[in-house]
Amino acid sequence: MNRLTAAPSPSVRVRAPGKLNLSLRVGPVEDDGYHPLVTVFQAVALYEEVTATEVPEGTGIALTVDGPHADQVPLDASNLAWRAAELLAEHVGVGADVALHLAKGVPVAGGMAGGSADAAATLAACDALWATGLSRDDLVGLAARLGSDVPFALVGHTAVGTGRGHLLTPAMTRGEFHWAFATQAEGLSTPAVYGQFDARTGGRAPAVDPADDTDLMHALRAGDPVALGLALHNDLQDAAIDLRPELERTLEIAQNGGALGTLVSGSGPSVAALARSRQHALAIAATWTAEGAADSVWCTTGPAGGARVL
Ligand code: C5P
Repeated sequence: MNRLTAAPSPSVRVRAPGKLNLSLRVGPVEDDGYHPLVTVFQAVALYEEVTATEVPEGTGIALTVDGPHADQVPLDASNLAWRAAELLAEHVGVGADVALHLAKGVPVAGGMAGGSADAAATLAACDALWATGLSRDDLVGLAARLGSDVPFALVGHTAVGTGRGHLLTPAMTRGEFHWAFATQAEGLSTPAVYGQFDARTGGRAPAVDPADDTDLMHALRAGDPVALGLALHNDLQDAAIDLRPELERTLEIAQNGGALGTLVSGSGPSVAALARSRQHALAIAATWTAEGAADSVWCTTGPAGGARVL
C-alpha cells in the first residue's frame, strides 16, 4: 500500500460553548455534599473544539490540548474529556480507544465551564465516531454523571437548571446580549468557593426559589439588556471575593465603565459585564486591560448554540 494515499483515520470534530450563570441561587448543602441550585445558564460564543480520531483497537485514550493556558490542562484520566470517552465506551460496550484533541477557546478554570464543554463535545464526538445510536436524552443523562454543568454544554442557548444545576428547562429569549469577560491566570477551586459559601451562611442558606428570577426571565423574553443587567445575581459572588478580594475592583471598573450589570461568573474567578453593544464590550475590556485588572479579556455574545458536529 502506498502510505501517501492511504485513507486518513476517520475523525469527528465537535464544538461546545462556554457559559455564564445569569443567576445562580444556592441552597444549603445536602448530605451528598452538593448544594441545590436554581440557576439560569446562558451559553456564549466562546467554544471548545474536540476532534475524536479513530485509533486501532486496544490503543486506549490519548489526549492532546492546544490554546491559551493549555499547559494548565491535565492530559490524563483526571481530564473530564478523557472521563467522558471512558464513560460512553463503558455505557455502550465498546473499547475506549480514541485520540482526542482539545482546542481550547473558553478561558481555563474560570467558572465558564470550559472543562464541561470539553466533556460535552467529547460525548458528542465519540457518539458519532462510534455510531452508538444513543438518543440525545441518553447523552444528556451521561453528561450529568460527569459534572453538574456538562448537560448544559450539550444543550446550549439559555436554560434554567435545577437540582445540582443538571436538570434543564429551556428559557425563551429574544435577541443577542453583548458580554465582556475578565479572566485570571490562576483559577479558583469550585469546591473551595462552595465551602466558603457554607462558612458565610453557616450552612443555613435559605431554600432556593425559581420565583426569585421572575424579573430576569421577563428581561430575557423581552430582549431587554437594561432589565437583564439589573436582574443578574450570583449567590457565590461574595464567597469568590472572599477568596480573591481583587475581584471587587474588577467588578467596579466595569460598573464605572457603564456596564448594564456585572457579576462573577459561576464560582469565579472570571468576571462578566453586560454591555450595550459590541463597541461598549470592547471599551470595558480595554479598561480592564489598561488598569491591569485581568490577565485576559474576552468579548462575545450570548446565547450560543449547544454542542454540534462541524
Ligand atoms: O458537579 P461538579 O463535579 O462540577 O461539581 C464540582 C464541585 O462543586 C462538587 O464537588 C461540589 O463541591 C461543588 N458543587 C456543589 N453543588 C452543586 C454543584 C457543584 O456543591 N450543585
